[in-house]
Amino acid sequence: MITTKTYPNFLQKRLDYYERVVMPALNSEKSPFFLNVVPNEQSIFVDNNDYLSIGNHPEIIEAQITQLRLKDNSVMSSFFVSGKGPREQFEEMLAIHTHQEASILSTSGWDANTGLMQTIADKETHIYLDRMVHASIFIGAQLSGGIIHIFNHNDPDHLEKKLKEYGTGVVVVDSVYSSIGSICPLKDIVGIGKKHHCVVVVDESHSLGLYGKEGNGLVAQLELEDQVDFITASLSKTFCSRGGIIICSANFKNYFRHNSFPAIFSSIIQNHEAVRFIKTLDIIKKDEWRRELLHKNTAYLHDHLDYMGFNTEVSTSPIISLEVNNESKAILLRDLLVHKNIVTAPFIPPAVPKKRCNTRMTVNCSLTVSQMQHIVQSCKEVLPVVQLPKDEINCYREKHLPH
Ligand SMILES: Cc1ncc(COP(=O)(O)O)c(C=O)c1O
Repeated sequence: MITTKTYPNFLQKRLDYYERVVMPALNSEKSPFFLNVVPNEQSIFVDNNDYLSIGNHPEIIEAQITQLRLKDNSVMSSFFVSGKGPREQFEEMLAIHTHQEASILSTSGWDANTGLMQTIADKETHIYLDRMVHASIFIGAQLSGGIIHIFNHNDPDHLEKKLKEYGTGVVVVDSVYSSIGSICPLKDIVGIGKKHHCVVVVDESHSLGLYGKEGNGLVAQLELEDQVDFITASLSKTFCSRGGIIICSANFKNYFRHNSFPAIFSSIIQNHEAVRFIKTLDIIKKDEWRRELLHKNTAYLHDHLDYMGFNTEVSTSPIISLEVNNESKAILLRDLLVHKNIVTAPFIPPAVPKKRCNTRMTVNCSLTVSQMQHIVQSCKEVLPVVQLPKDEINCYREKHLPH
C-alpha cells in the first residue's frame, strides 16, 4: 500500500506554495524539466557535456568492466585510503598533465568545491566570487563561514575595487561559465588576485580536456600554472562520469585529507571509476582530432547563431545558451526545439538570474554539418514564437504543443 504524506505546517506550506504558484507559472505538467515530447531516433542531443563524444567509448567501457571483474571495489572515505591503486594513479597522472604537484579525487565537482572552500577559508576570510560562479562554490563559501563579496561577471575592475576596499582573501572564478558559456578573462583576474596577495581558485569543469596542449586546460594554455593556487573540476563533463578533482600542492593534499568534511565523512569513488578516468584521460590526450572538430563545430554554430537575437554572443565557448527573459519562455523554447528533434537543457532560477533564463546547447565533436544546419534553421524558426506576448504564447502552446 502506498501512503500519502502530509507534513507539519512549516514544511507543508512550502510544498503547497510550489504546487499552487510555481508549477502553473512554469507552464508544465510535472516539473519544469518534464519533456512534453519524447526524444526519438532523429533527435540531436545537445543537452549534455560529453564535449568530445567519449562517454560510450568502447575502450573506456572495457577498461571499467575489466576492473570490476577484479572484485577490488572497496568503498571508504579517502581519510582511510592508502596505497597505490587506480585512484592514486589517476591523481598523479592528472597532476602531471596540468603541470601541478598533486590532485585529489572526490565523488563529485560539488564535493570538490565545497570541500575546498571549507578548508581554505574561515570566518575571518574575505571571499571574492564572480556573480556567475557555480552554486557549489557559493555554498562552499557559505559553509566556510567566510565574508562573501560578489563582483560583477567577468569584471576585473570591479574585483579590484572590492579588493582595495576589503583587503586580501580568496578569489574564485569559473574558467568557462556553465550556464551562459562566457569565458573568464583569466589573465586579468588572476593578475589582480595575485597583486593583492590572494589565494586564486579556478573551476575548470568546462575547460579541462577542451583547451590547452592535449587538453590540459585553460590555466595551462595561458601559462598561469604558477599563479593559480587551486584548480577544481567536475569529472561529469568532458570526463563523462561521476567524480570531481582538486588540483593542488602536495602539502595541501595531506592537510585536505585530514580536514575536509567530504574527505573524512564521505566515501571515495571506486576503483573501476578511477580506471575509467585513467582510460578517459589517455583518450583525451591522444585524440586531438576530437578537440579540433569540437572547436570547428563551435565556430560554425557561433558564426550562424550570434546576433540572431538570442544573446549567444556572450559566449565563444562550446556552451551556447539561447537567452529569453523568463522561465516559461525558456521551457517553451526547449519544447519547441524538441519538436524539431533538438534536445537542449533549460536553465531557470536558481541556476541563473531570472533575466538570463535560457535553454542551453552544448556543442560536441560528433555533430554533423547537416545537424548543425538543422539547428540553425530551427533556431531561426522558433525565435519569433518566443518573442510573442505572454497571452499569445499560451495560445500558441495550446495549439501547437498539446500535452
Ligand atoms: C562549473 C561547475 N562546477 C561544479 C559542478 C558540479 O559538478 P558535479 O555535477 O560533478 O557535482 C558543475 C556541474 O554542474 C559545474 O558546471
